[in-house]
Amino acid sequence: MTLSPQFLDEVRARTSLSTLIGRSVKLQKAGREWKACCPFHKEKTPSFTINDEKGFYHCFGCGAHGDAIRYLTDARGLPFMEAVKELADAVGLEVPAPDPRAQQKAERAAGLYDVTEAAQRWFVEQLGSIEGAAAREYLKRRGIKDATIARFGFGFAPDSRGKLKSALQDCGIERLIETGLLIDPEGEREPYDRFRGRLMIPIRDQRGRVIAFGGRILGDGEPKYLNSPETPLFDKGRTLYNLDRAAPASRNSRRVVVVEGYLDVIALDQAGIGEAVAPLGTALTEGQLERLWRLAPAPILCFDGDAAGQKAAVRAAHRALPHVGPGRSLGFVTLPAGQDPDDLVRSQGRAAFEALLEAPEPLVDRLWRHESSAEPLDTPEARAGLKRRLFELAATIADSDVREQYRMELLQRFDALTRPQRQGGERPAFQRGAFQGGGRFAPGRFQNGRFQIPRPVSEQAKAVASAGLDPRWLRAVLAGLVRHPQVIAGHAEAVAALPIGDPASLRLRDILLSAALIHGELDHERLNTILTEEGAAPLAEALRQERGLAFSFTRRDADPERAHRDLVLVIDTLAAQPGLCSALEAATERLKETGDEAAFQEQQRLRKARDEAEKQLAALIEGDAGSRQEQGV
Ligand code: UTP
Ligand code: MN
Repeated sequence: MTLSPQFLDEVRARTSLSTLIGRSVKLQKAGREWKACCPFHKEKTPSFTINDEKGFYHCFGCGAHGDAIRYLTDARGLPFMEAVKELADAVGLEVPAPDPRAQQKAERAAGLYDVTEAAQRWFVEQLGSIEGAAAREYLKRRGIKDATIARFGFGFAPDSRGKLKSALQDCGIERLIETGLLIDPEGEREPYDRFRGRLMIPIRDQRGRVIAFGGRILGDGEPKYLNSPETPLFDKGRTLYNLDRAAPASRNSRRVVVVEGYLDVIALDQAGIGEAVAPLGTALTEGQLERLWRLAPAPILCFDGDAAGQKAAVRAAHRALPHVGPGRSLGFVTLPAGQDPDDLVRSQGRAAFEALLEAPEPLVDRLWRHESSAEPLDTPEARAGLKRRLFELAATIADSDVREQYRMELLQRFDALTRPQRQGGERPAFQRGAFQGGGRFAPGRFQNGRFQIPRPVSEQAKAVASAGLDPRWLRAVLAGLVRHPQVIAGHAEAVAALPIGDPASLRLRDILLSAALIHGELDHERLNTILTEEGAAPLAEALRQERGLAFSFTRRDADPERAHRDLVLVIDTLAAQPGLCSALEAATERLKETGDEAAFQEQQRLRKARDEAEKQLAALIEGDAGSRQEQGV
């Protein structure tokens, strides 16, 4: 019999750990904790601590660690159930009797696995048969190799209402209905095959047993995917596709990747990334998050860069937030708009995807990005609104330490964003690098055989991520886009990826972007109409008028071809910069950990790439104006 986690939590919450342990061990109060000589090893000075608030004991001497239940099983040698009973009795809780319905359900489920397994074998057979030719052709067209087909157990359901029913009649109609393989219209008509004319993908549980199916239509049609209904075997909200294979893979790579679809998981596996899972056509549930956290401290969630994908990303962030803790967070990867991981590895290879996985956006950054760009912050009310939303977000976190950290971090970012911009030339803009906070990394050196990092590089990466482009660069790029709107449509991804902290600029960028996505190559007339409708004309005009921007694309009289080329180069470089910075940060972290030569080389390579990019940008600053800027005049 298994007890629910909720029940166990209730038992733990009601138990005073110090009282329990204090019955057999002499305790001393030490601040908010208790201290004692460890009951698990011999010692004279106390290194055993008890924290009632957290319900844990820990010994700094021998490492003994656990909660009240663990204390009884380890110190008194009680079996788990006995320990729970004793604690429950003491706090007036009754251990729930085994739920007869749950037990029945478990027994019924046990008899259904052989049905799904039989169906799986039959679907595979059909894929190999004459009727399966179109499905085999489809798999080939999608570039799915034979070994992958076998590994994931692809099958085919023929286009018939009765073939599965008669082939598997030995399983019994009732059980075929219960596993969702037959649809039972109840009443006048006979049960019939649910999956017809579809490519079949078996869904396995964590132990590798087939519990359900997803069926994809060959080519176009609705619905694209048909999934098994909820059955005694299949609880959609607790299942993750490919968890049985991804769990062991994640132990090697120490990460787990969450994508949207079956075919994404499979394409990644074929490309050599085996630790990917997918929820089954729904948003991630808390149950699924819990499973993911058992595999890695910060599962990486991949979402389409389009509006729908980003909305889903924020929803996942909100859902996870209350449950984060030390070693329990999330990372986010934003894919180019309109592409899924399958498209991406197919068109650009594994390395491109790995590069994205290298530098996921931390949960706190993703939330901050969403909230801080939700609306213009040009009134006190709007700023106060943002501040309140940030506090409310932090308040949802159950873990008190993490909650406090979020509160402080979000408040700091809020202050940095809303503090009035300092005027004056104390930081010459174009010389400083394109990013706020973008100072140089000081070179490291070897000391005592280990590589010493002189500066906290993560501060820089953080500054880049949260503050975004330096205001001067930002104005130059926006002025360029307003002046040359034709280039936006062709470089929408890079434009979308520009790290912009300032809300008004962010809004202008989004207006330009969506105008270009809707209308394609924008001309001035159309753009002006849209800007006026959106109330962004004054800002655009100010950018057009601005002097002192020193690029071909911000001048009225420049050669248009050159201006376009320069503008595209600047956009691409700036858009790539945060990724480069975080990769550099990650490499530096690795170097700190390992101190080895390979890590050093990697860090140097990235640093050079980052410096090259900055140099390239600097080279585009035009002669006179450039040097004038550099002198801060
Ligand atoms: P997508 O529509 O993004 O499909 O659905 P996909 O994974 O890219 O599939 P291909 O490449 O077109 O074959 C993502 C996931 O949403 C669920 C499925 O789990 C799918 O893998 N889904 C989608 C459904 O359950 N039903 C549908 O009709 C569509
Ligand atoms: Mn796809």
